[in-house]
Amino acid sequence: MAKKQISDLGDLKGKKVLVRVDFNVPLDKISGEIKNDRRIRGALPTIKALLKAGASVIAMSHLGRPTRDAVADKFLTMDKVAERLADLLEISVAKAGNTVVGAEVTARAAALQPGEVLMLENLRFDPREQKNDAEFGILVAALGNAYVNDAFGTCHNDKDASMVALPMRMKNNGFPRAVGFLVAKELEIIDALMAQPKLPLLAVMGGAKVSDKIAFINVLLSKVDQLLIGGKMAYTFLKAQGHDVGGTRVAPEELLAAQPLLHHIGGKIQLPVDYLAAKSSDLNETKHIVNEAIPADFEGVDIGPRTVEVYSNRIKQAGTVIWNGPVGWFEKPAFSKGTRGIAEAMAHSNAVTIVGGGETAEAVEQFGFDTKMTHVSTGGGAFLAYVEGKPFQSLAQIDDK
Ligand code: 3PG
Repeated sequence: MAKKQISDLGDLKGKKVLVRVDFNVPLDKISGEIKNDRRIRGALPTIKALLKAGASVIAMSHLGRPTRDAVADKFLTMDKVAERLADLLEISVAKAGNTVVGAEVTARAAALQPGEVLMLENLRFDPREQKNDAEFGILVAALGNAYVNDAFGTCHNDKDASMVALPMRMKNNGFPRAVGFLVAKELEIIDALMAQPKLPLLAVMGGAKVSDKIAFINVLLSKVDQLLIGGKMAYTFLKAQGHDVGGTRVAPEELLAAQPLLHHIGGKIQLPVDYLAAKSSDLNETKHIVNEAIPADFEGVDIGPRTVEVYSNRIKQAGTVIWNGPVGWFEKPAFSKGTRGIAEAMAHSNAVTIVGGGETAEAVEQFGFDTKMTHVSTGGGAFLAYVEGKPFQSLAQIDDK
């Protein structure tokens, strides 16, 4: 059933719209600076449309995983995010206070004028947020009179009060609830991808853990013509097959997770044909591995050039390519050639190209290919869960058209 969108909210003049966004952006560990503001930029169309329609916006998000330790959490306040949002919107954005709810926040929300934006403090600074606490939902709901979910990256979190208890309360208060442009676009693209992909459908997967992605891999295997593997999980499959992966660390639970998939190798699942390995004690010393075991003091760090060529040719012939997980240690320039090669092949192909969020999206953006893709998702876990077909409580709360 189609969900209400912003255009279905009626006259927004003078309304105070509570907008749940996912501004959980990557931060530099040392400086706390925002490393990538893609998720903030992704929510701009929604915020701008609401402001243009005469509403004011109360934006709210979590940031990171606060420990409730003042020192550890010092970078997780929303100040820098509010500043960046202000820069991007080219208007001032006030942060509502140092707590998520309370007298100061209530007063600031009440004083908000049409065309203004207020940013709540990190929702996870209040322990009730991740308990889907009804009382917390009531307190936040009291700040506005319409609700918009534009937080695709968080849509799979069924225990977040801002995603479930809050919109539930908005309904009880008689206020409308819609999805924003970003959520609408993500759902539309992934729905089309799963229902009627342009064939052949090819998936590229990397990243570390098979165990985290097992449900996703199984759904892909039921749909795709071929699944090309890279990244750390390639060594898991190799080791599970009995090959020597030298000094590459593979956890026992990963080997276990890979077992039921082994019969697909050589069929739907394709493993790399060569690798780049680096000496564990001195990463500057590298070795091209083709048809041989990785030495004991070396570890696999990237797919090799032959694999890039093989995978790029497959990408060229595909109708749709879905990619999740870097195929190498791309943060290190010397080990980034594989991931860059996949990104480049996708950017130059005529296929429909979908990049699942998180690290893969960061890599594609870092290499400057993001605008060449059909879609780069803002969801990491949410992208995987939606492709898996998991029902989202957060979306169940949004009014049907
Ligand atoms: C994400 O980055 O996947 C979302 O913002 C959810 O964050 P979480 O994994 O900390 O729940």
